[in-house]
Parts: sequence; C-alpha cells; structure tokens
Amino acid sequence: MKRFVFATNNAHKLEEIRRILGDKIEILSLSDIGCHSDIPETADTLEGNALIKARFVDSHYHVPCFADDTGLEVEALGGLPGVHTARYAYPDRHDPEANTAKLLNALKEKDNRRARFRTVIALIDNGEEHLFEGVVNGLIAPEKRGTQGFGYDPVFIPEGFDKTFAELGEDIKNTVSHRARASEALALYLASIGEA
Ligand code: IMP
Repeated sequence: MKRFVFATNNAHKLEEIRRILGDKIEILSLSDIGCHSDIPETADTLEGNALIKARFVDSHYHVPCFADDTGLEVEALGGLPGVHTARYAYPDRHDPEANTAKLLNALKEKDNRRARFRTVIALIDNGEEHLFEGVVNGLIAPEKRGTQGFGYDPVFIPEGFDKTFAELGEDIKNTVSHRARASEALALYLASIGEA
C-alpha cells in the first residue's frame, strides 16, 4: 500500500482526508514519522505555505507527502485575511473569537459581503510538485450564528444555503467545503496515476 505523509497533526484533518482517499493509501501524520518541528509558514500565498510544509517533509524525511493551507478571501477587503486568516486579529497568535469579531467589524459598513474559503494542497511525489485547489463561495453573515464547527464557521454562509457552516453542521459542510473539494482533487489525481 502506498504511504503518504500529511504534514499535519490535526486529527480532524487526518480523519477527513483518510475518508476521502479511501483505504488504498496509508496516511501518516507528522508525529507518526517523529516530526515534532513547528514548520514556519512564512510565504505570502497559500500555495507558498503549502509548498514550504511539503518541501520540509520531503527534504528531511524523503517520503511522499502533501500539505495544505487555507484562507478566507473577502472580496470587499481585497482578498484579506487570505494568507493571514489564522492570525488575522493578532499576528502572534490564533484567536478565533477575535478573528471573527475583527472581520464583522471590518464589514460593518460594507454592502458586498461576498467571500470564499480556499484550500491549497501541495503534493510532492517522486520529486514532482503538484498543487490542488478547493474553493467554496459564500457570504459573510451580519452576525455569528450556530454552534458547530470551528474558526470562521459561525460567520460563513456557503452559496446555495441560508445558514452558516456552524448552523449546517459537519455532514453538510463536508459535501461543499473548500478542504473537501481540494482533497477530492488530490484523490482524483492519485486515482488517475493508479495510486488510489
Ligand atoms: P489552516 O491552513 O487549515 O490551518 O487554516 C487556517 C485558518 O483558516 C484556521 O486557523 C481557521 O481560522 C480558518 N479556517 C480554515 N478552515 C476553516 C473552516 O473550515 N471553517 C472555518 N475556519 C476555517
């Protein structure tokens, strides 16, 4: 069975990708290969950060690997917070409550509330780099709604729905989400080359 390292220790992401890729591929986490480094994400694009993480694993561990990076891109803010999504409110820490409060405040006077979540996955296999993308378009709600999910879920209403991700819940979210779509693009590629 082909093995890939997914450059994360996030149990939820590992479970999601294992479900999408099926049982023909074994997915290992960073801790499974003894990698406990905090890989710095210093690029100014999602693609750049996904590649930094995948290249780190490739160069130190020499195993087929992939890494992801996600951003919320808000049209009226010129694509921000984008690559700064996790640390939008405070550059040195991840504070989801402060992040959503800052976003709602930034859009207070704006009519255009269009936004999208975008996930990029960088794969390195046999020394070749490949990028996959998943996007979900939507709107930023006027206020937080719902209790499920994480991060910006209480303020993101995906296209085709009138509820936020936090109201819709995980099962519905997984049918349309940016991360699911990027993972499906990766799965299709691996299937096309006979690896999944
Ligand atoms: P990461 O690249 O997956 O770590 O995502 C960066 C940041 O984007 C996270 O810290 C969250 O704030 C936000 N984010 C990513 N995916 C989601 C999602 O599915 N719902 C809500 N927020 C998300």
